[in-house]
Amino acid sequence: MLEPTADEIRDWGNSVIQLMVDYLGDLRDRRVYRQMSSREIREKLDPALPTKGISFDGLLKVFRENIIPFSRQNAHPRMFGYVQSPGIPIAAFADLLASTLNANLTVWRSAPAPVELERLTIDWIRQILGFNAEAGGLFVSGGSMANLAAIAAARQAKDFSSSRLRMYASSATHFSIAKAAALLGIGRENVRLVAVDERFKIRTDDLVAKITTDLEAGLLPFCVVANAGTVDTGAVDPLAEIREIADRFQLWMHVDGSYGAFAILAESARRLFGGIEQADSIALDPHKWLYLPVDVGCVIYRDPEIARAAFAHEADYTRMFGEKADEAFAFWDYGPELSRRFRALKVWMLLKGVGLESLSEAIESNLACARYLESMVRASDDFEMLAPVQLSIFCFRHVPAQLTHESPEAIDAFNERLLVALQRDGSSYLSNATLAGRFALRGCVLNYRTTLHDMEILLDDLRRVARLLLTSA
Ligand SMILES: Cc1ncc(COP(=O)(O)O)c(C=O)c1O
Repeated sequence: MLEPTADEIRDWGNSVIQLMVDYLGDLRDRRVYRQMSSREIREKLDPALPTKGISFDGLLKVFRENIIPFSRQNAHPRMFGYVQSPGIPIAAFADLLASTLNANLTVWRSAPAPVELERLTIDWIRQILGFNAEAGGLFVSGGSMANLAAIAAARQAKDFSSSRLRMYASSATHFSIAKAAALLGIGRENVRLVAVDERFKIRTDDLVAKITTDLEAGLLPFCVVANAGTVDTGAVDPLAEIREIADRFQLWMHVDGSYGAFAILAESARRLFGGIEQADSIALDPHKWLYLPVDVGCVIYRDPEIARAAFAHEADYTRMFGEKADEAFAFWDYGPELSRRFRALKVWMLLKGVGLESLSEAIESNLACARYLESMVRASDDFEMLAPVQLSIFCFRHVPAQLTHESPEAIDAFNERLLVALQRDGSSYLSNATLAGRFALRGCVLNYRTTLHDMEILLDDLRRVARLLLTSA
């Protein structure tokens, strides 16, 4: 039956809410990850093409028994891998309501109130960052898509369609920038990788030298990408200085703030972001440090009309008749997508329902967790930091007494085995980075549930798993 009765909808809803309550209630007792194989999971899923439907309870049973236990528990307070938000319950309700309304945010007339809500929430984000009142943008699927849209606008602004185009970004930049350059025909190899300093921030002397060399060779520098939180170490490039260099050479300045930019909400980190509001474009990910579930990224342009020149496309079937400017508004003029989900609802429900004060406190607490980990590591004689903590990312390694005299390669190999063993153990989850050629255990605190005690547990887990590795070797 395609249309459930009102009683069925209520029963389904009650069962789903109960599942959610049980799941969130047990979260701390779950393992973040468990060893599993593709085959093991496939064997649990009935592969037959369904001809007759099953009950809703039957569907939930599969979700409860075969999906949840075989997933990484991203909401767990000790999920430190990658740049993973926990997903916040209010957004689950927003997603339910967004799918119920099924608004399609192409143009104003397709979804008048949802479009206004997106414009409002984008404007709130603009205010958080301190951009001028004319700046604007839209929600996209994530940081990668936001970077792509911004680089497309940057190229349009310079109106270059030449193979001599060159752009600049530090060697610590996320791969989505090079991918955007490849997809836009600029060429992956034409993204000049600029050296970083000992804090993994872009070296502006190398940036200027590379731009100058390219100009002398008759090439066309058009864009510099600054990081507001690199994915490896959380380094924030000197944004005001990069703006000054961009102006000197007439480059578009794009900021990749996908991981770090919302830390501007935390008093103790705010000074790192001075000058961010002067960028020509910025990529952000509410599905990272605003704790929202995927997918919601965001791109803001200082002058949206330039983006319009890159994306606007008239087709007879999309032409609008007799509309005033506000009502003629089309998101497709500012980004790559046509059909778009009502992503703004979860951003609005979060900002309006939780408020900036609580979000700032949560981000501040994440920063404090990373700094606490750093202080414990520096005070220990069996862990070493491999980069300073700048936001909520920490990179370190374990060097137990038995290994202090081993070669750097042997210590790398041990930490690599330790990472795999920790992930399989399941009490805490880290990912990895390579810093100055050395293997680093890498963590990122991005969950409002994480406490200082979780950071202590992480080190205990590593020591416990390492002992097992060393005794079994
Ligand atoms: C700095 C940075 N930029 C871009 C991205 C890509 O974001 P998304 O995964 O939302 O496409 C990430 C993802 O971790 C990131 O950390």
